[in-house]
Amino acid sequence: MMTDGGPGPRITTRVTELLGIEHPIIQEGLGPYKTVQLAAAVTNAGGLGTISMPGMTAGAQGVRDLRAYIEQACELTDGTLAVNIPVGTAKGAEPPELLPFSAAYVGCVIDALRDSAIAQRLRVITTSAGPPGVVRRAIADSGLIHAHKVGGTRQAIRAERDGVDVIIASGYEAGGHTHARPVHTIVLGANVTEAVDVPVVIAGGIRDARGILAALALGADAVAMGTRFVASCDNPDWDDAYAQRVLAMQEGEDVVFPAVFGPSRGLASDGLSELLSFVGSEAMTESELTAWKDDRLIIAQRDGDVTHGIMPCGQVASGIGDLIHVAEFVPGVVAETAALLERLSGLFGGTGRPESDPRTRTRAPS
Ligand SMILES: Cc1cc2nc3c(=O)[nH]c(=O)nc-3n(C[C@H](O)[C@H](O)[C@H](O)COP(=O)(O)O)c2cc1C
Repeated sequence: MMTDGGPGPRITTRVTELLGIEHPIIQEGLGPYKTVQLAAAVTNAGGLGTISMPGMTAGAQGVRDLRAYIEQACELTDGTLAVNIPVGTAKGAEPPELLPFSAAYVGCVIDALRDSAIAQRLRVITTSAGPPGVVRRAIADSGLIHAHKVGGTRQAIRAERDGVDVIIASGYEAGGHTHARPVHTIVLGANVTEAVDVPVVIAGGIRDARGILAALALGADAVAMGTRFVASCDNPDWDDAYAQRVLAMQEGEDVVFPAVFGPSRGLASDGLSELLSFVGSEAMTESELTAWKDDRLIIAQRDGDVTHGIMPCGQVASGIGDLIHVAEFVPGVVAETAALLERLSGLFGGTGRPESDPRTRTRAPS
């Protein structure tokens, strides 16, 4: 961590160097609706913003939407952007076979790079859900930096072997798709940073300087946040009701439910209860159920229907009590991380407990 005489402290890591970004702070994919303005805001603040994918069942319209989102985000920033595509594979297929929607979206991203204005900005693809090997060659050939999200150390080792450039280690407490075998961020982060040589981004439960410093101590080269950025003033693509539900969430209120690629973590709602009532029933075929879930996720994000909708959300929401302004938050949280490190170093000088920092408290414990 250094103060370079510029506007504030900087944390220089392998990720900031590789991606050419100012701060090792990533807003990760928040599908299945758009995060065009949020992604641009995070990038403009010096972090890495991610364009989210528009659902698994949108077909050819989804591809057109994704291309539009990429173009719109690139018009809002000159900085580096990422796009997130879950790379699902067909059940039981050996060798793994990429699902058609993932293939179409990855193809759309690679095709968009033919536009030089897009290629200058869209430099990163983050994949998630399935093994990255199925798309690795196409992504490597495209020149994009490839980050892959994992929930276990074995998956991280395999992703590194497949050739990805960066691993995102996402702990069980994360919002959205989480993992069949629950390994939490503090355990997973340390295990993954020990197990692989490529840069590691730690995600799951991070909301402020304390989480960032902890992730750096675990060996991370950056952090990714999802839920923290949902509760933001700079996500006007979504109805504000979603962010308000995140702010209202109490500890222990989150629910893990069956999603398309495995378990997902979200907020309780009538829509989620309805989904849980389908478990074990044959009310819908698998593809009908996937379309139903896409629709319920989108009505929550786009329309603010927090009653009938399904709302992915991390456990960290229980500690989030304010909406952030991204332009202040990103450099501000880096400055707080530097200050926190300095205060903690006082512990080693025998000066007693460091003072608590009121700025990191955004909500009274519930
Ligand atoms: C509303 C919401 C939607 C999400 N959608 C996606 C997605 O489309 N693809 C993906 O890889 N991860 C998705 N995630 C997971 C995030 O990218 C990120 O890994 C996670 O939010 C990190 O944990 P945190 O919420 O504790 O910060 C989503 C998370 C949330 C909260």
